[in-house]
Amino acid sequence: MISKPRPQPQFCMEVVPPPAVLVFFGATGDLFERKLLPALFHLHKTSLMHSTTRIVGCGRTPNNDESFRRFVEKQLPATAGRAVLDAFLERIAYCVVDPSDPPSFERLKMRLDAYGGLDTPVPFVRLYYLAVPPAASQPIIEKLSNSGLLDEDDHEAGTNHILIEKPFGTDTKSAAEFDSFLMRHADEHQFFRIDHYLGKDTVQNILIMRFANILCEPVWNAEYVDHVQITGAETLGVGNRAGYYDKAGAVRDMFQNHLLEILAFAAMDRPGDFSAEAIQRAKLELFNAIRPFSRDDVGSCIVRGQYTGYRSEKGVEPGSNTETFAAAKLWIDTPRWSGVPFYLRSGKRLSTAVSTVTLVFKPVAHSVFGSAAPNRLTLRIQPDEGMCLHLQAKTPGPKYCIGELPLAFKYSDLGDVSDAPNGYARLLLDAMLHDHTLFVRRETIASSWRLFTPVLDRWKNDHDACPLFPYEPGSNGPSAADELLWRDGRSWEPL
Ligand code: BG6
Repeated sequence: MISKPRPQPQFCMEVVPPPAVLVFFGATGDLFERKLLPALFHLHKTSLMHSTTRIVGCGRTPNNDESFRRFVEKQLPATAGRAVLDAFLERIAYCVVDPSDPPSFERLKMRLDAYGGLDTPVPFVRLYYLAVPPAASQPIIEKLSNSGLLDEDDHEAGTNHILIEKPFGTDTKSAAEFDSFLMRHADEHQFFRIDHYLGKDTVQNILIMRFANILCEPVWNAEYVDHVQITGAETLGVGNRAGYYDKAGAVRDMFQNHLLEILAFAAMDRPGDFSAEAIQRAKLELFNAIRPFSRDDVGSCIVRGQYTGYRSEKGVEPGSNTETFAAAKLWIDTPRWSGVPFYLRSGKRLSTAVSTVTLVFKPVAHSVFGSAAPNRLTLRIQPDEGMCLHLQAKTPGPKYCIGELPLAFKYSDLGDVSDAPNGYARLLLDAMLHDHTLFVRRETIASSWRLFTPVLDRWKNDHDACPLFPYEPGSNGPSAADELLWRDGRSWEPL
């Protein structure tokens, strides 16, 4: 007798992490309030946080456990229900810690050691999250290390983790110096360098799409793909971050990190397995295979722009040459991508806020239908997360006409996504589990700076060969960015 096939098992790696003490420096700041707190609350609500896990806010702002709990409660949705809120607030504590006051770190240590004395089946994992401005992170790491808070003995390896946000340097030299600083204070496995794009479901989905679908991987190469476009467009300007942004610009702010991470997921070869080690290795190979920009390329393959009015924004230098837009053509020297250009663009104050990866396929060879628009697969990272495959199909009606058929899927089709966690929930979870898959390794940072430092140097020194093109706020960037593709007989996907 033939029996009905059983449903396929689903691959799901979610595991509840061990007990942890999550220590947040900058706990009264913007990042904690807007991103980290909602992520922590989501983990709590969905039971992805051990019942004994504690959250300790740290900062110079005077607070005690009670006043910090009140601050936290104000940020949480009242609709969550009293019992859930109370259970979350019970996890919360506060410690006044000031890098210019070393004894405050001793007090923090005593507090954390007390948690370690609790009766739990496994040692507490400690996570130190530096949600502070870049200049504040080094003194904190130094003091944590001096007070023994980062020490691990053999049976405790993997219990003291430090989470840090970009910037990881501003060029090759400063990134190497920052890296040596980190290595003097803890081991590489203790650092979890965050690129918040890697926390996004839709970025992780790039790997799943590619390697879990027989329809994708066989065509994901130079034989079928004409070119790839990666876009990170924003409608907002620099807001109140001009102090940072005016020294950074689009290449340091978006290209060196977020866009290259997306590129790596979209272009790397298949890892041997789904372990952090294998994925990181495949990513690094990809980073190292990006062809360096030659001196001439900087003038011809990478375009910079600045929106009109940027120089009069609060906090921006009046004569600033900082780029608020960049577009680049990259080549990846691997057999998979031989001859396939990758076009990347990112900018502020553009017409639309959208992040996408689009593979534009080659035309059908000797098509019996003449020339038709190429197939395109767009992975939509945000907003309206989802994907769309453009195919050619018969248009309805008595005549044999062909038109473009979009096969579109949105995550919101699966139901209400308004309560979906932000990417930080995933990253916090993985850090508690000591899983480095979605974090950035020092070697890839070094590699990305090797790629962009010569560009930034040339931009600084050679304004004639590398003009800064103005563009209107609300436009699609300078026309020089369009010309970058027109020269190759191609054009950008509409924003
Ligand atoms: C940050 C940049 O890393 O990413 C910001 O510093 C940028 O300038 C932001 O706006 C974009 O992130 P998201 O998740 O809003 O696309």
